Amino acid sequence: MIAQQGILEEIVNLRNQALGEIMQAENTQSLEEIKIKYLGRNGLINNLIKDIKELSEPIRKQIGITVNDTKKTILNEINEAESKIKKEKETNFDPTIPGIKPVYGSTHIITEAINEIEDIFKHLGYVRRRYPEVEWDWQAFGSLNFSDNHPARDEWETFFIDKSASKKFGQMLLTPHTSSGQVREMEITKPPIRMINISKTYRRQSDASHYPMFHQFEGLFIDESASIANLKGTLEYFVHNFFSEDRKTRIRPYNFPFTEPSFEVDISCGVCNGRGCKLCKEGWLEIGGAGMVHPNVIKNGGLDPNVYKGFAFGWGVERVYLMKTNVGIDDLRTLYSNDIRYLKQF
Ligand code: PHE
Repeated sequence: MIAQQGILEEIVNLRNQALGEIMQAENTQSLEEIKIKYLGRNGLINNLIKDIKELSEPIRKQIGITVNDTKKTILNEINEAESKIKKEKETNFDPTIPGIKPVYGSTHIITEAINEIEDIFKHLGYVRRRYPEVEWDWQAFGSLNFSDNHPARDEWETFFIDKSASKKFGQMLLTPHTSSGQVREMEITKPPIRMINISKTYRRQSDASHYPMFHQFEGLFIDESASIANLKGTLEYFVHNFFSEDRKTRIRPYNFPFTEPSFEVDISCGVCNGRGCKLCKEGWLEIGGAGMVHPNVIKNGGLDPNVYKGFAFGWGVERVYLMKTNVGIDDLRTLYSNDIRYLKQF
């Protein structure tokens, strides 16, 4: 007859012995040996309890529980020690070997241009916005005073992406211009409004100076007394800060359905200082559209056109960046080719 107390004590002893050996094991092979020695079919623990059948049921049960716990503990320790050894092996490096320098990333030049534009307008109190790239006809055209079959929908070379139109907003499309943010802004902000919406825009075009995805920045100013003089002053502020103090601006009459009057804005050529050269011909470079917000647009934004007036302008980020830097990018598409070797140059 074996004594119950004796077995329990022996099990504890074996456990402590095993844990001690595990702690000292230096490689996975000795851990494997420890496993066999204690937990193997003919290992020390199984040997110890091989006569357990002679004991009475409740005692057998208690010993069984202890044995299971012990086996589990030993196995856990072995596994842990094993992964520790493996990890050490991996991280075991020679600190005297010269390191590998991490590659420094930098922002894309168009991201830099966007940040700079945002910063300039912030100084005038403009709030940066981003409006959806996937839009409805209503925000992109309808609310901006384009009549239902206005040919400008073709002129803008829009990507329509869903033929099943929404009853309320019309067809779904990739926004062709940041003016789609005008009505959205009026809906969420009480005047005075000073918005600078810089977002991705899409048009069906691809050549050396056009890419199907590009960026625009759209300024929208609404209050009770906005004037053309305010518009001109704002454009001048931007041009002086983004280009340089000596660049002049001028506005020419133009036509957009959502502004009245509408303008094209030119800046004096940086190459010839406005005297006229091969690049600009007559001293001016066209930079983008602007105008006084049409009363219908103000109405569509939920505001009273008898109370509020506004001006807006929408220019291309890539375009102003290339005009500013003269970096000699002769094909705009390369900016989005994602070739790091190319982009690194700037
Ligand atoms: N949305 C116009 C375009 O893409 C530019 C514009 C914006 C014109 C705001 C007037 C006012 O060409």
